[in-house]
Amino acid sequence: MLKVLMVTSEAAPFAKTGGLADMVSSLSSSLKARNIDVRIIMPRYYTINRDTFEKLPPALCVPMTYGDEWGAVYKGALPGSETPGGAVPVYFLEHEQLYGRNGIYGYTPDEGFHDNAHRYSFLCRAVFQICRMINWIPDVIHCHDWASALIPYILRKEEYLGEFSGSFSMLTIHNLGYQGIFPLTEAYLVKKHLSAWDIAGLEFDGAFNFLKTGIVFADVITTVSPTYAKEIQTSQYGERLDHLLRSRSNDVYGILNGADYENWSPETDAYISPNNFSVSKMANKKKVKKLLQKEFGLPQDDDIPVFGMVTRLVAQKGLIELCYPTIGSLFNICNDFKLQFIILGSGNKWCEEELRRLTDRLPNLKIWIGYNDRIAHIIEAGSDFFLMPSKYEPCGLNQLYSMRYGTLPIVRNTGGLADSVENYNEETGKGTGFVLNDLTPHSIYNTVGWVLSTWYNKRKDINNMRKQAMRKDFSWTKSADEYIKLYSNLYNRKVFL
Ligand code: ADP
Ligand code: GLC
Repeated sequence: MLKVLMVTSEAAPFAKTGGLADMVSSLSSSLKARNIDVRIIMPRYYTINRDTFEKLPPALCVPMTYGDEWGAVYKGALPGSETPGGAVPVYFLEHEQLYGRNGIYGYTPDEGFHDNAHRYSFLCRAVFQICRMINWIPDVIHCHDWASALIPYILRKEEYLGEFSGSFSMLTIHNLGYQGIFPLTEAYLVKKHLSAWDIAGLEFDGAFNFLKTGIVFADVITTVSPTYAKEIQTSQYGERLDHLLRSRSNDVYGILNGADYENWSPETDAYISPNNFSVSKMANKKKVKKLLQKEFGLPQDDDIPVFGMVTRLVAQKGLIELCYPTIGSLFNICNDFKLQFIILGSGNKWCEEELRRLTDRLPNLKIWIGYNDRIAHIIEAGSDFFLMPSKYEPCGLNQLYSMRYGTLPIVRNTGGLADSVENYNEETGKGTGFVLNDLTPHSIYNTVGWVLSTWYNKRKDINNMRKQAMRKDFSWTKSADEYIKLYSNLYNRKVFL
């Protein structure tokens, strides 16, 4: 049985700031259902309740460059991953000083903890000790984003002779915009005395760069959509690592994420019960819309379209063009058009403050600042349209969820948005959403105008598109098989070692 270890800084429902957490958990569940021996290692942040976990008896000794560091390991199971052969085991790495505080990467989304290089170097090293402790050596260590990207280096440079000599590494880039960049002096966490060769691997532009290290040393690199896999090899989207990614282009693959329909389906979603709906029973969607309008204190009028957003409030998501003071188009959109706008999000302070200021002036704009799963579900389910004008979008899960609920996405033509949303064709009436090409305040305004003219003049097309969107299948089946193919290719290399 193929053994795959996921190493991650987030996994739903234990710790989540965005889609990474959803992806790791739903991919793991799908792999388990396909008979892969998949396990997860992640930090035990203070907010993760360990009451139901089993504490593994021996203390964990992790040899760091400055001496031994001690931690503990708790074992839990991934909810929703149960199979006749058991659920996906999750090993939580505990270390009071490093993880015993609120927050995943920082107390607020705006600032990272000062010791993040230390926190995640420890995770990367501890992984090998945990595998030894549980006497389970994976065929593939599947790393996700910068926080686990030192593992390919440690595997190739230090662990290549012993038990791990037959293990391979895969790095999935969920977001090239977050690289884990620290002062070069912190590279001592990986190696005490750095040779020129070490620096060539760990350093980028005078700094210690986790993700760059992973890109250099991983056996296979994947990203979460075919279009983003191409985009990151260009200077426009490459975040200055495009040359490096181009040099590895034979090992770079793009696999579109699936959506977790167990959690995100209008037929079964508990947050909208008893008004669940489906393609053949759409009347309840109107009821959910009314409840959403009521929840946000908006007039309960079905003729007024509701535009929803659920997002991290950061530049990546097109928030500068939408609402940066004096340049964003949100004020004009809400002021000029007959619509209602609801935004759920948290993130950069400037954006939270600007949204609060705008809601004081616009009775049809409502916001909920913070993180709230229930509100996310009712916005996805009850809105008519879902806006994602991202500057770049590696995959994007919200557009997949919204299509499932017949909430038409309005997206920019980039990354996974381009791979999943089919633009409305006015002649044929076909499409699953609305696509804009350039990202400017003006183009967002114009696209919303186009959506509204379709809503008010061609409602039949909107209703047809809803059905086309709901019938699309973005389940994990195909994507999980593509991952298995890549794991098996690596495994076959081992056979020939
Ligand atoms: P990203 O990972 O870049 O933030 P995705 O679209 O891949 O974007 O995933 C975002 C995930 O996070 C979705 O599951 C979305 O519902 C959730 N999410 C984002 N912001 C919030 C919030 N404020 N409250 C609840 N869920 C949120
Ligand atoms: C990242 C990306 C997002 C993607 C998610 C899961 O957070 O920004 O586009 O859907 O990872 O892969």
